Amino acid sequence: MKKFAAKAASALCAFGLGMALTASVQAATSNEAMIERIKPIGSVCVQGDENCGGAAAAAATSTSGARSGEEIYTGKCAACHTSGVLGAPKFGTNEMQLRLDEKGMEMLLSHAINGFNAMPPRGTCADCSDDEIQGAIDHMLAN
Ligand code: HEC
Repeated sequence: MKKFAAKAASALCAFGLGMALTASVQAATSNEAMIERIKPIGSVCVQGDENCGGAAAAAATSTSGARSGEEIYTGKCAACHTSGVLGAPKFGTNEMQLRLDEKGMEMLLSHAINGFNAMPPRGTCADCSDDEIQGAIDHMLAN
């Protein structure tokens, strides 16, 4: 009887150890699975963020659709065109209209896209489409 008890105890012991091992192995794998599950899928790219790649910025704009001329003007052009920095045609005056009369829209647009003297290409808005630049010019002309 004593012998049986000892055997049973050791059997139980081995069983228990086995369970414990299995449990810890399972814990380890499910930890990894959990880390895999909770790790970020992607990172948020805020437009204009220097850390964002150009491709990400372009993708962001292409999915959000064209922005209005007013939005582009306010965000990208106003810095210079509100006060006429470096001789920029001033917003709210006829200065842009005079240039339009003199040069025509095609030249204004091409200067806005490619740069012209102190006017930087696309007004530094690298992710602005040609249409968005045109919209911003129209917005300046309409005001
Ligand atoms: C860093 C300042 C700056 C920013 C930002 C800027 N501009 Fe200009 N822009 C200028 C200056 C300076 C001129 C005048 C250049 C000249 O006549 O020598 C100018 C001229 C222009 C002209 C007239 C070009 C011509 O042929 O006479 C257009 C059109 C124009 N800007 C559009 C824009 C648009 C659209 C934006 C925004 C997307 C913008 N600009 C942002 C400085 C700026």
